[in-house]
Amino acid sequence: MTDTATTASILARPATPADAGAIAAIYNQGIDDRIATFETRHRSAADIEAWFDGSHPVVVVERNGEIVGFASTSTYRPRDCYAGIAEFSVYVAANARGNGIGRVAMEALFDAAHGAGFWKLVSRIFPENTGSLRLMATLGFREVGTYVRHGKLDGQWRDVVIVEKLLDEG
Ligand SMILES: CC(C)(COP(=O)(O)OP(=O)(O)OC[C@H]1O[C@@H](n2cnc3c(N)ncnc32)[C@H](O)[C@@H]1OP(=O)(O)O)[C@@H](O)C(=O)NCCC(=O)NCCS
Repeated sequence: MTDTATTASILARPATPADAGAIAAIYNQGIDDRIATFETRHRSAADIEAWFDGSHPVVVVERNGEIVGFASTSTYRPRDCYAGIAEFSVYVAANARGNGIGRVAMEALFDAAHGAGFWKLVSRIFPENTGSLRLMATLGFREVGTYVRHGKLDGQWRDVVIVEKLLDEG
């Protein structure tokens, strides 16, 4: 095999509403995994289009021209004092995990969120989601603590680990 055949082209770029269908397909895989989110309802492309509110960046990662992952920001709290804090999510297509796509998506999101004026990203991760916790640790997130019995997934109480990263710290 030649280098050309073995080297994948990986590119992160800002997402647009035209990417909503691809993002929904990847997010719905994550919903089905039952390890990433309390959400259980599949999202449509129209649901995802609502994420593009003009202030919260969304990025996608393409591998050889195909969208295989995304990272997104959303409102943390409506209070003005928290205007610089965003919630984030990151999802990689099941058949593309473990190839650095999640890292590339998050690094692109850091730049996009910082450029959009955010100073901090936060999220909550199931303690069982060791892959995500590991990724966040390698990206410089701090584990703030654990919310116990924070919500039910399929009828079972679940804890969540709070993570935060200040974007000005690099
Ligand atoms: C979590 C997720 C986004 C990681 O994306 P990914 O592309 O598979 O991760 P990467 O290949 O970029 O890995 C980045 C780092 O995280 C670590 N990591 C990622 N997945 C891991 C796993 N399952 N087990 C152990 N470490 C893991 C790797 O060690 C890697 O570190 P390194 O760069 O120092 O080698 C992906 O597995 C996914 O989409 N999971 C389902 C959805 C989800 O859980 N999203 C997060 C919700 S908060």
